[in-house]
Amino acid sequence: MRDESLFHTTAMARLVEHKRNRPYVVKVGGEDAYICGCGLSGKKPFCDGTHKKTLDEKDQLYIYDEKGNRVGITSFYDNE
Ligand code: FES
Repeated sequence: MRDESLFHTTAMARLVEHKRNRPYVVKVGGEDAYICGCGLSGKKPFCDGTHKKTLDEKDQLYIYDEKGNRVGITSFYDNE
């Protein structure tokens, strides 16, 4: 049973699907910078290591709440 509280918000929400589970490495001033590719970093645009939570994801959709809790869903449109 999914946690319905993840779908209720007072602000307009925009769901964005991220499939990458590791950072992008770019050169900035000759040094490596790690840019978040998973969408979960608390220090965007930089990686903070939170992507490690995604490494065991299976081939399905997940929603992560602000506390980092994960719920697997079958579709963004379950309520239709
Ligand atoms: S890639 Fe998003 S936190 Fe590392």
